[in-house]
Amino acid sequence: MSRIVLGVTGGIAAYKAVDLASRLRQQDHAVDVVLTRAAEAFVTPLSFSAVTGRPAYRDEDLWQGGESILHVELAHAAELVVIAPATADFIARAAHGLADSLLGSLLLSTRCPIIWAPAMESAMWQHPATRENVGRLQAVGQRVLPPGEGHLASGRQGIGRMPQPDEILVAVEEALRTPLLSHVRVLVTAGPTREYIDPVRFLSNPSTGRMGIAVAEAARSWGAAVTLVLGPTEVPAPGGVQVVGVTSSAEMFQAVEAELEHTDVLVATAAVADLRPARQFDHKVKKDELPNALELERTDDILAYAGAHRRPGQILVGFAAETDDPEVEARRKLQQKNCDLVVGNDVRQEGAGFGVNTNVCTFVTAHGAWQVGPASKREIGEEIMAFVAQRLGR
Ligand code: CTP
Repeated sequence: MSRIVLGVTGGIAAYKAVDLASRLRQQDHAVDVVLTRAAEAFVTPLSFSAVTGRPAYRDEDLWQGGESILHVELAHAAELVVIAPATADFIARAAHGLADSLLGSLLLSTRCPIIWAPAMESAMWQHPATRENVGRLQAVGQRVLPPGEGHLASGRQGIGRMPQPDEILVAVEEALRTPLLSHVRVLVTAGPTREYIDPVRFLSNPSTGRMGIAVAEAARSWGAAVTLVLGPTEVPAPGGVQVVGVTSSAEMFQAVEAELEHTDVLVATAAVADLRPARQFDHKVKKDELPNALELERTDDILAYAGAHRRPGQILVGFAAETDDPEVEARRKLQQKNCDLVVGNDVRQEGAGFGVNTNVCTFVTAHGAWQVGPASKREIGEEIMAFVAQRLGR
């Protein structure tokens, strides 16, 4: 349980902050809500105190009289401050150190981590003044979550929606956690591979690499040193991790082989092509000259190689994307590839598989199996890291 200050500023998304406060409370946090005057036009302190079981504060409370000074008390007790929603106006005030509200004074007084969940119209978010103000907050180590895209209060579509409570909760967890995996080296394979027939044709699959990218992000947030071996994808690689871009399964194999010796944990999420053309042409083959059947050969199994050459203490995690029984298949792969954990999923199930942001998984180890999800790919990444931390006795 941690003591969290939830600052609510005056935007239409303020009503969503009530849900956020409730969910923080459900996670056993003690939540002190502080509203700005503008926020009170949208929600009342009572809405918050009803879900947090604690008083919610407003500017009038700044000088209550008596011994204690409220903003200093709250600032010192807080282990984390979350501002949701954060308006352009309040971001500007905080970026310039204004202390003309209870929340503004509290932000200047606290030394705990601060997370911002901005919500505003796209034009305001993109305005150079806001960009500069956000940059100021980031420069002093505060975390500004990117707003979401979609329907805005004006009726327009665009960037500026308050990040989803789920995303904010993940950020809260990250901020509160002491990095359990610091000094642990995690290697993640992700994305598809391309097996070229000639310079303009290849065999591949629809993997986007999202699952592996989410695992890499989760590992980084647990304090690990992360290397991501990433096949061709449009999805941007995360910051703060070392990215090795590869194209074919042979390149991915080489990249992993080179890293394995320095790896404590391998998480193989890549959808490696199982077959490649036996012959590759170095020029574009004219269609009239294309054969009716391609002669194919097997690619090397990267995870199986790692399993056969694993060092004592090294942890191996595989995935099994299936259309049949994922648990049975995951168990088979666990044994065949000598892994500690295989995450099986049924790619035909709704909210699972290629290209989507969620997954429903069965975690299979030598000792048992359990279901994880439906959950975001990031949450599944977090669960994998929890398993790894436990295995490492952290
Ligand atoms: N994998 C790998 N290298 C390969 C093939 C698979 O590292 N050449 C890894 C994947 O990243 C995944 C696991 O092995 O972690 C299982 O991959 P999957 O494609 O589900 O299984 P296959 O081994 O190809 O087996 P099958 O086709 O029988 O399902």
